[in-house]
Amino acid sequence: MKDLTPGKDILDPIEIASRDEITALQEKRMAWSLRHAYENSPFYRKRFDEHGAHPGDFTTLADLARFPFTLKQDLRDTYPFGMFAVPREKLVRIHASSGTTGKPTVVGYTKNDIDIWADMMARSIRASGGRSGDIAHIAYGYGLFTGGLGAHYGAERLGCTVVPISGGMTARQVTLIQDFKPRIIMVTPSYMLSILDEFHRQGLDPRESSLEVGIFGAEPWTNAMRAEIERAFDMHAVDIYGLSEVMGPGVANECVETKDGLHVWEDHFYPEIISPETGEVLPDGEMGELVFTTLTKEGLPIIRYRTRDLTRILPGTARSMRRIEKITGRSDDMIILRGVNVFPTQIEEQILKCKGLAPHFQIELTRKDRMDVMTVHVECTADRGTGEARQASAHELTHHIKSVIGISTKIEVHDPDGVARSEGKARRVVDNRSD
Ligand code: DLL
Repeated sequence: MKDLTPGKDILDPIEIASRDEITALQEKRMAWSLRHAYENSPFYRKRFDEHGAHPGDFTTLADLARFPFTLKQDLRDTYPFGMFAVPREKLVRIHASSGTTGKPTVVGYTKNDIDIWADMMARSIRASGGRSGDIAHIAYGYGLFTGGLGAHYGAERLGCTVVPISGGMTARQVTLIQDFKPRIIMVTPSYMLSILDEFHRQGLDPRESSLEVGIFGAEPWTNAMRAEIERAFDMHAVDIYGLSEVMGPGVANECVETKDGLHVWEDHFYPEIISPETGEVLPDGEMGELVFTTLTKEGLPIIRYRTRDLTRILPGTARSMRRIEKITGRSDDMIILRGVNVFPTQIEEQILKCKGLAPHFQIELTRKDRMDVMTVHVECTADRGTGEARQASAHELTHHIKSVIGISTKIEVHDPDGVARSEGKARRVVDNRSD
């Protein structure tokens, strides 16, 4: 793989500014954001007043801890447009997340918000190794989901030629990659694996493809999965993070030259880590729940939004802005199996250690005699389909999970293609416990 370290001359000066400069900018913007939310969103005014927090109380970043959290439920309660801080006519775009339960959460952007989002996405693609003039194949879903359009505007902003293919029709994805020869692909890591299978199905060598940079996010994925994809395609695989409530993709991104966690674009988004139990702010370096405050967003300023994503904050490396460690999972996805906490990413790591298994998987939870049972559905690789080979793989995976995570699981090894696929975010856990 090529060295894609960018020259300092193409970075935004703030990406390599001193910490003092970054802090000064954050304080100035935070004061604006708190005031903007309080003065223009009845929701925030009421919430701040109830909490006895006034924007005038803010002078340094440490004062942020006095302000109340915002939860996903707040967006649901104010559905559809109740949290906005500008008149509806000033919004040029709406996105929404379907959510698994209840009403969708709706977010809105002013023209200026869309502009900043495009800038942050362009910065993210550049950090990943993308450059002006590249062809960018965008297989994130287009529509109410922020992935497709977010990536699209950013790639255009950077000066790329965009192929807005969206998710799905996997055979056509491969055809267009072969014909248009994109250098960049942006897609969920799980759907990238389906594209990989399709390359093999068509008898093509993915290592011979034009792809040099993959920008993968919208769901948790591990460094083991990174190694798998990089090996399969002979390309760089870089992590991108974001969420609709804060903006969409492009809140934080890895740098291709280090791949050591995701730099938060701190000139627009202020991160905190809190204890999920007490809400107390934890020092950098400690694991907890990620919380974001937007510093420049007009349409929907978001103050101390509890993401439920678990990670920790680390100092800057390739950029001065601080990093978040690759996300282990969401607190909602944590499985508690007979007292042991397990994240799907931990299972993913163990599957990738087993030679005879493909990287697709789904976890099923059932209950038998009041005991929770975890079944891991996996697939054998095409060359290891015999009964004996499958049994050996199942045995190997059971052993890895038991010795590393400490739980007993049932393993079901299916035929290739036997595990449900998704064209966007993978559904890793199916909970069939009835009571
Ligand atoms: O998934 C935005 C996005 C699109 C990010 C494309 C990256 C690429 P939502 O649908 O609102 O927005 O879901 C946000 O997805 O809170 C995380 O739980 C998860 N997530 C997003 N990126 C990552 C990542 C988009 N890189 C939720 N690693 C977030 C782990 C991620 N989880």
